[in-house]
Amino acid sequence: MIKNNPALSTKVITNNASETSKLAKQISNLAHKHKVICFFGNLGAGKTTFIKSLINALLQIEESEISSPTYTYVNSYNNNQDVHHFDLYRLKGKDEFIEMGFEEYLESGDICLIEWSERIESIIPSNALCIEISHLDEDKREIHIHVLDSI
Ligand SMILES: Nc1ncnc2c1ncn2[C@@H]1O[C@H](COP(=O)(O)OP(=O)(O)OP(=O)(O)O)[C@@H](O)[C@H]1O
Ligand SMILES: [Mg+2]
Repeated sequence: MIKNNPALSTKVITNNASETSKLAKQISNLAHKHKVICFFGNLGAGKTTFIKSLINALLQIEESEISSPTYTYVNSYNNNQDVHHFDLYRLKGKDEFIEMGFEEYLESGDICLIEWSERIESIIPSNALCIEISHLDEDKREIHIHVLDSI
């Protein structure tokens, strides 16, 4: 069981997408504490899969209504609380992020879920939760969950 531990660092293996979805739901309580959750991992690693289930757990929005904002950078959802889903794959770097006024989102206290966080690495808040997903096999992933300032 994953607790709200400030020095949290846990590695979990998932064998398919539904296990990743289940893990996302299990750790959804951590989003309230950390607010900013940064996702790392190659194309097709499972970042969006994880985030859809996380948003579903946080806001009770159907996963079929959630899609990755690859062209618009951010999709915002509200149901009692605000959750912003960023996909920064096409972003050039942190300067563009700041120019578009997105830095305010990170400081707003709203929950921010960020795919391709590498693009803004130097401005990620130090208490952000990091979720790194690596391919082990076709459907097998290693998911490393840790607090940025604990490594
Ligand atoms: N263990 C697993 N965990 C997550 N996804 C898995 C797993 N095994 C297979 N998959 C599949 O891998 C794909 C992951 O796609 P997804 O869009 O979530 O990746 P992504 O990391 O967001 O990629 P991108 O960088 O292109 O946005 C899905 O088709 C999913 O069903
Ligand atoms: Mg994605």
